[in-house]
Amino acid sequence: MKVTVDGTAVPARPGQTVAAALLAAGRPTWRDTRGGGRPRGLFCGIGVCFDCLVVVNGVPDVRACQRVLADGDDIRTQRGAELPR
Ligand code: FES
Repeated sequence: MKVTVDGTAVPARPGQTVAAALLAAGRPTWRDTRGGGRPRGLFCGIGVCFDCLVVVNGVPDVRACQRVLADGDDIRTQRGAELPR
């Protein structure tokens, strides 16, 4: 599968989540908080905390721990969150 993160190709396997691919690529964080700019990545891992938000194919606020990769996905790290303030 071909997947890119911020424009760089990363290894990915069918059935793998975005979070799993990011962690396997050595990226423990991929978002920062909108208030203090603190780094965030995987926290709960089960779709509850919303810490793992990422931009997938131009769509923000995708939970990386819940989204299964598809061939050709364009993953972008995210600043803050688009969620209602
Ligand atoms: S790590 Fe908590 S929602 Fe993804």
